[in-house]
Amino acid sequence: MNHEKVEKNIGLMGILIIVAISFGGLAEIVPLFFLKDTTEPVATLRPYTPLEMEGRDIFIREGCNTCHTQMVRPFRAETERYGHYSVAGEDVYEHPFLWGSKRTGPDLARVGGRYSDEWHYVHLMNPRDVVPESNMPSFPWLDENILDGELTGKKLAAMRILGVPYSDEDIATAGEKVKGKKEIEAVIAYLQSLGHEHASTSNSSAGGQ
Ligand code: HEC
Repeated sequence: MNHEKVEKNIGLMGILIIVAISFGGLAEIVPLFFLKDTTEPVATLRPYTPLEMEGRDIFIREGCNTCHTQMVRPFRAETERYGHYSVAGEDVYEHPFLWGSKRTGPDLARVGGRYSDEWHYVHLMNPRDVVPESNMPSFPWLDENILDGELTGKKLAAMRILGVPYSDEDIATAGEKVKGKKEIEAVIAYLQSLGHEHASTSNSSAGGQ
C-alpha cells in the first residue's frame, strides 16, 4: 500500500529519491573526513612562508589557477610528464585548494625547482621570451607592485584558525618579512615551493590508487 502511494505521488517520490541518493553521497564523503590518509599532512609538508603565502594570493588574484591545475592525476601520461601523482596529504594546508580541472597551461603541482628564479622572472614578464609559441599573458605589473605586508600577519592568523600550524612569532613577524618585496618575487617564491613535499619520498601509501 505504502509503495503505491509513493509511486503515484511524483513529488513524494522525488523527495525520497533525493534522500536515497544523499545517503549514497554521505557514505562516500563522510569517511574521508576521518581517514588518516586524507587529513594527515605528508611527513615533509610545511606551511607556506609569508612571502610564499603572498605569492599564492597574487596567483589567485591574477587568475593563474584558471589556466593551471595543481593536481597530477594517477595516470602514466601525467606522472611521466609532471612527476609523482598528487596525494591528499599534500593539500592539508591548502585553503582554498587550487586543484582545478581545466588546463590551458601545464599542471604546476610539481613545478618548484624545475626552472631557475631568473627563468620565472623572464617568463612572467613576457612568456614569449622563453617559450615562443606561448599564449600565456604577460604580467609586467608584478615587477612594479611592492608589498606593504600590512595584511600578511592577518592572513597567517586566518590560516591558523583553519588548522595551519603557524606560531605567534610567525604571525607577528610575517609583515616585516614581505614588506618592500616586489609581487613578482612573491609569485616566484610560491612557484618554487610547489611540489616541495615530493609525495613519493614520504607517505606514499596515501591515496595510492
Ligand atoms: C590564459 C591562460 C594562462 C594564464 C592566465 C596563466 N598561464 Fe601560465 N601558462 C599558460 C600556458 C599556455 C603555458 C605553456 C607555455 C609557456 O610555458 O609559456 C604556461 C606556462 C606556465 C609555466 C611553466 C610551466 C612548465 O611546467 O613549463 C608557469 C610556471 C606558469 N605558466 C605560471 C603562471 C603564473 C604564475 C600565472 C599567473 C600570474 C599564469 N601562469 C597565468 C597559460 C596561462
